[in-house]
Amino acid sequence: ASAEKGGFASFMDKEIHDQPQAVADTLLGRLDTEGRLTLDEMHIDENVLKSVDKIVVIACGTAAYAGQVAKYAIEHWCRIPTEVELAHEFRYRDPVVTEKTLVVAISQSGETMDTIMAVRHARQQGAKVIAICNTFGSTIPRESDAALYTHAGPEIAVASTKAFLSQVVACYLLGLYLAQLRGNKFRDEIATILAELQTIPEKIQHILDEKKSQVLALADRNQDVGSVLFLGRHVGYPVAMEGALKLKELAYIHAEGFAAGELKHGPIALIDEGQLVIIVVPSKRGRDSLHAKVISNIQEVRARGANTVVIAEEGDEEVDQFASEVIFVPETTTLMAPLLTTVPLQIFAMELATAKGLDVDQPRNLAKSVTVE
Ligand code: G6P
Repeated sequence: ASAEKGGFASFMDKEIHDQPQAVADTLLGRLDTEGRLTLDEMHIDENVLKSVDKIVVIACGTAAYAGQVAKYAIEHWCRIPTEVELAHEFRYRDPVVTEKTLVVAISQSGETMDTIMAVRHARQQGAKVIAICNTFGSTIPRESDAALYTHAGPEIAVASTKAFLSQVVACYLLGLYLAQLRGNKFRDEIATILAELQTIPEKIQHILDEKKSQVLALADRNQDVGSVLFLGRHVGYPVAMEGALKLKELAYIHAEGFAAGELKHGPIALIDEGQLVIIVVPSKRGRDSLHAKVISNIQEVRARGANTVVIAEEGDEEVDQFASEVIFVPETTTLMAPLLTTVPLQIFAMELATAKGLDVDQPRNLAKSVTVE
């Protein structure tokens, strides 16, 4: 087994380190030499994609957080209303689905029964279903109208890491492809976005090479925490929820991810002396005044005694004064940031669990693929 782990202490550790490759492989062969997207492999009628008036992303667990990240990008690029729903909720609430609805089912395994049932329901209502899946020939892609595979390679650890980043990338490719087909974006804009996407593997590698030891030390110092709050805004919000999920799954620590703007509407009541709060800060070059708003959230929790750990972009000096600790990640665009900011959160959860003596590959009570409803 140690050979299979490639010298890493666990499959999880290996899979976190596989991420630059997983992202690169998911991009591979999908861009032509002129930087245009070619997703002919989906074998889906372009006219169907041109007539879509709503997108519904269905998934469970980490895959659903990938969908939530993708919603921000797809709506921005394609101007198609996009919802994200947990598959088991979608299936049993009589959702509005028509022939013009594109359902995107995200699943690493392709065997999650909740997601399979939702796919069947959507197709019965006449929707077209595209599967984003990591397992060739599994049930979900077989039962869908088309498949766009993530090329993360086998994921063994129960909690998902490299599949998550690959799912975000595949969703982005799908979103850009729809924008390209429907003429929502100029060709050079799409090429610019794709060029940024192609820089992501080396930026993830940079985090693994340069930031891992800082995150390990941080986790070791915090192994006795009773609860952790994660805050983020815009695409940082699903990243916060994914960071919290990793900590629950791996370290059995109560954790919650909140939209930073929601803090004042309730969660701030949870803050007292020593509460660990991890904040994902949006890029300064990003939208409007989001950066300033999240900085003031850091101040607010800090003023109430929180221990503030901040994930921010390199060169962001403003965060330093309010943070107990800053983990800097390389610069990228607002929409690409989740592909970087998620990585320290994965390492943090893995190390905290390891420090507590837990089995990070096989957490208690969880299964890699949940094949019952
Ligand atoms: C299980 C796993 C999670 C995973 C979820 C969805 O609950 O423990 O890690 O995110 O299923 O799995 P899927 O294979 O559909 O992506």
